Amino acid sequence: MDLTAYQYLQGNYAPVDEERDFGEDQLTVEGEVPASLSGALMRDGANVAFQPNYYVYPLDGDGMVHSVYFKDGQVQYKNRWVETSHLKTERKFNRTIYGSVGKLLEVPAEVIEAGGEPSPVRNTANTNVIYHADKLFAMWEGGFPHLLNNDLSTVGLYDYGGALKPGDALTAHPKVCPDTGQLISCTQRWDSPNYCVQIFDASGKHVKMIPVQFERKGIIHDLQITDNYVIIFYAPAFHSLEKAMKGEDPFMWEPELGTKIIVIPRDGNGKQMVFETEPFFSWHFCNGFEKDGKLVIDYIWIRTIPFAQAQASGAEKQPRRMHRMTLDLKTQKVVDEEFSDIFCEFSRVDERKMGKEYRYGFAASSNREWGDAHGYNCSGRYDFETGKVELYEFGSEANASEPVYVPNPDSEREEDGWVMSFVHNPGEGAFLSILSAGDFERGPVAKIHIPGRVPNGFHANWMQGLTLER
Ligand SMILES: [Fe+2]
Repeated sequence: MDLTAYQYLQGNYAPVDEERDFGEDQLTVEGEVPASLSGALMRDGANVAFQPNYYVYPLDGDGMVHSVYFKDGQVQYKNRWVETSHLKTERKFNRTIYGSVGKLLEVPAEVIEAGGEPSPVRNTANTNVIYHADKLFAMWEGGFPHLLNNDLSTVGLYDYGGALKPGDALTAHPKVCPDTGQLISCTQRWDSPNYCVQIFDASGKHVKMIPVQFERKGIIHDLQITDNYVIIFYAPAFHSLEKAMKGEDPFMWEPELGTKIIVIPRDGNGKQMVFETEPFFSWHFCNGFEKDGKLVIDYIWIRTIPFAQAQASGAEKQPRRMHRMTLDLKTQKVVDEEFSDIFCEFSRVDERKMGKEYRYGFAASSNREWGDAHGYNCSGRYDFETGKVELYEFGSEANASEPVYVPNPDSEREEDGWVMSFVHNPGEGAFLSILSAGDFERGPVAKIHIPGRVPNGFHANWMQGLTLER
């Protein structure tokens, strides 16, 4: 592959070409792995298998999941591509067939005649990997999720027993309610402007759909829950499939429209509220909760949609910062404040506090000048009680993935858990870092060194109780 034209396929953004299995004797553990952990830390990401003819970071690239499994203090590593129908078709023909969400290509007739995937829109399965109701999924927001086995082998597309209809696109960012175990998700469609909140119960059964009417389909990536509401940001960011088919820039940013914050009652009854603000974009929420008739929402603020400025590469240097927004449900007043001026992204919390008052947010953070190949060389802890931010730096040129909070099974305290992140540090290689959530200064309590590269990726999660045995 010649990847020189693609900024976000350079260095540790470049794909790996192997699926690997490393056992305990091939992984080097520095420090001590918490023996009480049973489960897996998995991370999805883009890993092109064939020469791309166009590439919009962070939307393109075949999904690959990297996993470190924990049991009785022992660890194992695996990485596998998600075997999507698009990837399988390209493998069958041994060449690139499909385009990018930034530039769609017509699927050749001989591919369709031979039974290859006919849709020009690639379901990359590259964005997130989640575990709910004993099922493991690789997620992409433009289509159905892919069901995986615990060993990362792919079962196939999953429609939740028919709850998802052909053309439904399930978000890659559902939230799990810590009280009910419900999965609060949403669908959008390429052929409709509307947005539908979709609720699945703790067993994975679809139980509710709440429609939200829009005049235009927006680029809505994440959602936040509180005890009673679902909150989404409707930024003036749009994508046109028609433009993508014509090879024109399909991404539109229309700041004069401002950004709307939509508050949707989770029970499906009651009025949906719309708050209007200055234009901004956001990929990710950190958390949100209800307090004294207000909604408090912590999220990563970006001035505009990132890839509108440098089509094809996604290159941009604009800051991303932790913000706290307060919505007054009575007066409709919106107050938005910058919490910190540190560059950060991929914000997470102790998910036992999802939708609840909480103290700590965690985010991939940077303490260096953002260059062209931006990245995050630190894991950051954002203390919403004291206003203090603590960074743990892995190295000036390191890249640290999304920091995932892993609860300590023996404690309810946020401080007693761990924060895990896949890190690539030139000269040191790839490792899974395990920080103490209550003591970032100490540095990793363990580093699990992986004897092979783990490229930069997207979202990760802790899969409690998932093992290779079952
Ligand atoms: Fe995301």
